[in-house]
Amino acid sequence: MDGNGRWAAGRKLPREAGHRRGVAKIQQVVRALGARGVSVVTLYAFSTENWRRPSAEVDALMSILAEEIGPQTRELHEAGVRLVHLGDPKPLDAALQDAIATAEQVTKDNNRLTLNVAFNYGGRDEILHAVRGIIADGVSPGDIDEGLFSRYLYTKECPDPDLIIRTGGEQRLSNFLLWQAAYSEYYHTPVLWPDLGEQELDQALDAYRQRQRRFGALDGHSGHGEA
Ligand code: IPE
Ligand code: MG
Repeated sequence: MDGNGRWAAGRKLPREAGHRRGVAKIQQVVRALGARGVSVVTLYAFSTENWRRPSAEVDALMSILAEEIGPQTRELHEAGVRLVHLGDPKPLDAALQDAIATAEQVTKDNNRLTLNVAFNYGGRDEILHAVRGIIADGVSPGDIDEGLFSRYLYTKECPDPDLIIRTGGEQRLSNFLLWQAAYSEYYHTPVLWPDLGEQELDQALDAYRQRQRRFGALDGHSGHGEA
């Protein structure tokens, strides 16, 4: 969800105003994608590296989440959306951890769409978290395969992303779903997250449909399962 700061700067507003505008965008994007048949959406809202920002900005992002999680969850719940948190909750405020757990609990039986919210998420952190879990469970090395490893990630049984849309013009992964994105199609756009509209989403989906996904094989039909 990149570009909030620049959206605000372009309007001579404080960066926080951009982040608020970014949150307001969530419902619209989730609904638009749901209407187009997408069943899982993941938003990268706060990375394990975002703690390096000035403390005033980190505080603002935490306050915005704390204020918005209730109202946003109510709207998403009405729309049949299940909320799942991806990331390490431990460094977050106790009240925020509770609010996240409540949002997950309240929406857990919804099945119109799953919305993963990556907050204090980092791909490397997630991989280490999985390794620690596997060791703590005493799994023997011979039993560790891709399926087992995936189930120890924050995304658990969730399918790997087909398409990753990066807003705000950057062309890097920024520690997002490193394991899961092995064969994801990547689409980047200069459009800032708060300006993301249905037209740009349609362009991203059209671009995705044009891609030939071969998963390392020549024709898309690998002979040996995963390629
Ligand atoms: C939002 O956009 C990303 C978050 C960490 C919430 P940015 O804050 O990176 O916005 P730009 O890149 O400065 O425009
Ligand atoms: Mg940015």
